[in-house]
Amino acid sequence: MAAMIKKIGVIGSGQMGNGIAHVAALAGLDVVLNDVSSDRVKSAMATINGNLSRQVAKKIITEDARKQALGRIVSTETMEGLSDCDLVIESAVEKEEIKRKIFHDLCAVLKPEAIVASNTSSISITRLAASTDRPERFIGIHFMNPVPLMELVELIRGIATDDATFDAAKEFVTRLGKQVAVSEDFPAFIVNRILLPMINEAIYTLYEGVGNVEAIDAAMKLGAHHPMGPLELADFIGLDTCLSIMQVLHEGLADSKYRPCPLLVKYVEAGWLGRKTQRGFYDYRGDKPVPTR
Ligand SMILES: NC(=O)c1ccc[n+]([C@@H]2O[C@H](COP(=O)([O-])OP(=O)(O)OC[C@H]3O[C@@H](n4cnc5c(N)ncnc54)[C@H](O)[C@@H]3O)[C@@H](O)[C@H]2O)c1
Repeated sequence: MAAMIKKIGVIGSGQMGNGIAHVAALAGLDVVLNDVSSDRVKSAMATINGNLSRQVAKKIITEDARKQALGRIVSTETMEGLSDCDLVIESAVEKEEIKRKIFHDLCAVLKPEAIVASNTSSISITRLAASTDRPERFIGIHFMNPVPLMELVELIRGIATDDATFDAAKEFVTRLGKQVAVSEDFPAFIVNRILLPMINEAIYTLYEGVGNVEAIDAAMKLGAHHPMGPLELADFIGLDTCLSIMQVLHEGLADSKYRPCPLLVKYVEAGWLGRKTQRGFYDYRGDKPVPTR
């Protein structure tokens, strides 16, 4: 079954979707990239081209590999454009109702033997699978950000995921050169169950005035040897995604220790979502990032 994955679809061409398309095309797979508008897919293609060119400049890949990878990616604005894919990975916003609607529309046109996956950071794979016509061929394939650089992918089985689907997903991920960590289907899985409460606590530290943005990030970089400060990392992930993950943890585990920090809620309500909107805990509109608090 694993050998059958030759063509993949990616729904949502934001920072994660374009990264998944990038690594899959470099690994020789045909990729169909989808988003809500042609503008979004166009800007994703420009990002992929820029990131591939950077890899050429660093001599990680050849110019020929860049051209071939780009040639393997096509775009579509419709679900019909994904109908003959062997595997479709949903990587749209971290909102359950949006993902459920995508799966509903996708399954209506997707060939029955195809596997459907979600790159969700936190939402129950079993619950998402139940919104499809093929829970046995549904799986969580959770990539890390930025996809071309990060080694890990978490694989999460829903209650109904069959062995053939798990094996095919594992072989697909291995083909991309990634290492697999298997997680049970619990809110936020392994990495985000540990990482997001730490980030949320850093935001509480800011909210309570224990330290300012620079002090908190410097403390964790220099005092705990984290490569990025937690607030810088939150901006990188996207504050909307951080909030959605905390909400899933809070609701799913029903424990007040996961309560999203009100300051995180405020930033999201302001539309200050981090790097992708140019403003979050830092303002990225100038030459160098400036703390917003
Ligand atoms: N940001 C991270 O660090 C990270 C890491 C791992 C997994 N994820 C997960 O990946 C997914 C995407 O996150 P992202 O950071 O790429 O977000 P993003 O905001 O960069 O991109 C989301 C994209 O989804 C598109 N979209 C929204 N509704 C859609 C629909 N109905 N059909 C098709 N496309 C639609 C948006 O237009 C946007 O381009 C989320 O589930 C997130 O939890 C994120």
